[in-house]
Amino acid sequence: MCGITGYIGNRNATPILLKGLKRLEYRGYDSSGIAILDTDRIKYLKKAGKIKELQALISKTSIYGSIGIAHTRWATHGSPNDSNSHPHLNESGTIALVHNGIIENYEAIKETLIRKGVIFQSETDTEVLVHLISAIYYEDKKLSFEDAVRAALQEVVGAYGIVALCKDEPENLVAARMGSPLVLGVGENEYFLASDASPIVGYTRNVIYLDDGEIVSLTKNTHNISTLKSKEILTKTLTEIDLTIDEIEKGEFPHFMLKEIHDQTHSITNTMRGRLNFQDGTTNLGGISEFIPSLINASRIYITACGTSWHAGLIGKHLIETYAQVPVHVEYASEFRYRKAIIDSDTILIAISQSGETADTLAAIKKAKELGALTLGICNVVGSSIARETDGGIYTHAGPEIGVASTKAFTSQVTVLTMLALMLGRKIEVAKNKGQNLISSLSELNKDVEEILKNQKKIKEVAKFTKDVNHYIYLGRGINFPVALEGALKLKEISYIHAEGYPAAEMKHGPIALIDENMPVVVLAPMDNTFSKILANIQEVKARKGIIITITDTKNSELEKLSDFILYVPPTHQHVFPITSSVILQLLAYEIAVLKNCEIDQPRNLAKSVTVE
Ligand code: AGP
Ligand code: GLU
Repeated sequence: MCGITGYIGNRNATPILLKGLKRLEYRGYDSSGIAILDTDRIKYLKKAGKIKELQALISKTSIYGSIGIAHTRWATHGSPNDSNSHPHLNESGTIALVHNGIIENYEAIKETLIRKGVIFQSETDTEVLVHLISAIYYEDKKLSFEDAVRAALQEVVGAYGIVALCKDEPENLVAARMGSPLVLGVGENEYFLASDASPIVGYTRNVIYLDDGEIVSLTKNTHNISTLKSKEILTKTLTEIDLTIDEIEKGEFPHFMLKEIHDQTHSITNTMRGRLNFQDGTTNLGGISEFIPSLINASRIYITACGTSWHAGLIGKHLIETYAQVPVHVEYASEFRYRKAIIDSDTILIAISQSGETADTLAAIKKAKELGALTLGICNVVGSSIARETDGGIYTHAGPEIGVASTKAFTSQVTVLTMLALMLGRKIEVAKNKGQNLISSLSELNKDVEEILKNQKKIKEVAKFTKDVNHYIYLGRGINFPVALEGALKLKEISYIHAEGYPAAEMKHGPIALIDENMPVVVLAPMDNTFSKILANIQEVKARKGIIITITDTKNSELEKLSDFILYVPPTHQHVFPITSSVILQLLAYEIAVLKNCEIDQPRNLAKSVTVE
């Protein structure tokens, strides 16, 4: 994962890079570091721990210059200590480099370099890159720094986004990508490089998204982008970013996660903007309209994703099969990419990803494409790798999501899948009034979320009562089973309480053995055709003294009698309940994590986008 950033221009690079790192911290926070070309030498500082550790170091020294690079790490190779932190430098300290990705053949390269006498300082895969570039650059004096980087990268297998600088070419910054994202911000007599656009906002709105296999060489006034392999010069189009500073700052909220939970009062509406057609009881999804016949006639649809996005996929399966009657298989991208899935030209792969950069999801898309499938993406980050790799897609438009635990991106993904299912359904036999009913409920979502947020006090009570437990169970049936999975994942991620989501009726095939008076059981109990069944499941838990926390959209005396806590969402369509109930589950996980003093936005061991396998 990791976040990388770079600057070349006339200003002092240090504060720009530090601010950029703060914005990228969601991508990794094991350590951070900075290297600046300071008159005639490279000065660098790096430190294990969060960026504030690096900040403290910087405040004690003077590190000043107008060309620099920086890194925030999520360790893949080597523990998160000072020496494994990036930047990595060559032995003479004349070249510095930051890297996001994994160099798969690093051991072989390392052996060769060690045989040549190179002494390594870290256990990272990354360090081979800087020594390799250095060996090539200084061995062959005729090569430019850019060409030395290019030559070194020809020997590398794996994924990388890199930014490098060299003391002997002090007017130059070089960056390249293969499998890890890199955005170039184009300012006036200055350039910015970063893993995503967030460090660039506030300086310029003009960006160029680098593609795999491209290298860019920058001076403060020029940029030259070419292909890594053939050195072909590329003219890339400038894109205007529509990100605002407000969207990437947490304002009055103590945590991004809470801000993003609250954002759902408008983010879901943004997802639906211009896409609902009440009159015809259907939806309009421009990015995939040309693929509607293929979707309806597909032999099968695979939905692939990871983590929370995979949960959205499970809800999507339920909806697409219900409305459009096309068989849908939902697969973890990490599994799908390595198994022999049945893929033909009538197969469609839908990849779901908030970041649009998840390595496994990207690999699953590439595999499906190779085998002839049409690929579609549901992404939040505009211009992300998955958005560009797929044949078509639908943006969720939830706005930037910074908290590591996904919240608003999830509800927007589910909203997109609901709109997709309805659109396809309406093309076959779903009646107009059915579509209108669903659309009416979708249109109420902003108000529903506002209502739900008023429940915070009640949710806090539940959090207080259960914060010291070691385990939690979440139960749901049908479309709400994935909601249970998602609720459990949220709690695990940010509060470190072990939690499991289960289909409510499966309980009696095993997990019911876990129930005792210390086990909170969250039950999703909407008023749908499974209501009486779920009541029976609650009875089963109650009989074993479990703590029942019910989430429902319906007042029901029996439910009230059986529940220790009952949390209401406004009455809604059964296919919209997964969205409203998820907001409650997000808040519950949040409140528990707050009481446990957890690092909410940056839970241990995690990073926001998993751009490594
Ligand atoms: C969600 O809370 C997680 N942090 C994680 O499971 C995430 O959903 C997963 O890594 C997929 O990310 P993506 O949507 O950006 O592809
Ligand atoms: N592999 C490098 C390291 O462990 C970069 C990590 C990453 O991008 O996730 O330092």
